[in-house]
Amino acid sequence: MSSKIANETSKGRVEVKDFALSYDTLDGPVEAVTSAAIHVNPGEFVSIIGPSGCGKSTLLNAVAGFLKPTRGVVTVDDEPVKGPSAERGMVFQQYSLFPWKTVRENVEFGLKMKHVDKSSRERAARTLLGITGLLAFENQYPDRLSGGMKQRVGIVRALATGPKVLLLDEPFGALDAQTRVIMQQILTNMWQRLKISVLFVTHDIDEAIFLSDRVYCMTARPGSIKAEIAIPLERPRQQSMMMSSEFLGLRRGLMSLIREESLKAMGGEVSDLAMEGLNIDLHGQSFADVV
Ligand SMILES: Nc1ncnc2c1ncn2[C@@H]1O[C@H](COP(=O)(O)OP(=O)(O)O)[C@@H](O)[C@H]1O
Ligand SMILES: [Mg+2]
Repeated sequence: MSSKIANETSKGRVEVKDFALSYDTLDGPVEAVTSAAIHVNPGEFVSIIGPSGCGKSTLLNAVAGFLKPTRGVVTVDDEPVKGPSAERGMVFQQYSLFPWKTVRENVEFGLKMKHVDKSSRERAARTLLGITGLLAFENQYPDRLSGGMKQRVGIVRALATGPKVLLLDEPFGALDAQTRVIMQQILTNMWQRLKISVLFVTHDIDEAIFLSDRVYCMTARPGSIKAEIAIPLERPRQQSMMMSSEFLGLRRGLMSLIREESLKAMGGEVSDLAMEGLNIDLHGQSFADVV
């Protein structure tokens, strides 16, 4: 199983060009992302960071093939993405395991869909569960697991079909801080072992720096790419690196980029709703300008 995945390492290049996506709503189109271009090189770990509602999930869902761009194109290894595929594994923030299936049956599900025979399925699932320390829980049902374990199973399930690209949408957002750090370590270990391309969405600056080779920072909605930042920290990464001056320098840079966009994103809401309600005159300026 692991050699099958390792053979795919020369591939997994994601390219998103001239991308825009609007949602059709009863009140007309909602422009979620406008003019975004990103790429992930084979085997690279790339994060997308940006304020809430800026279009991160929209962009990721288009790479997964769940959404069709209004403009532009998404390709994986030069093939246009036309819909979901087992070659792009997806991990969501909310645990999306089947509650009526055991841990191993959950992991085997994608392989079963691909008509992989029972003993190969079982072997592949047990290998991946072993790497992530979950083998002892293979016959448990998801409701018996902690949040961190459920999300580990979610990652293992997404990896079981040997995808070229792993897509993760704020996968650790619901976990407590300590579990989150451990999950980050497990994910980087898995990624280094499998040499797979990763596109990771988060709004957590430390998480983006700790995990990534490169980070894209998005503007407030309608989202576009505001900046692209290389993370030259050596690997393997250790938690202690988060205190290094190099890490803190990167953090400072990203924080000021995100703060600017978060204020823009908040400005509309605050001036339109709260500030008017409070009878505060902004003299025609936006909330971001005033603060
Ligand atoms: N199905 C939908 N219909 C209409 N608007 C949507 C839909 N999904 C998301 N949006 C809007 O698109 C914008 C981007 O959403 P999303 O991609 O989920 O942002 P993020 O993941 O960065 O928080 C938001 O303003 C959101 O309200
Ligand atoms: Mg989102």
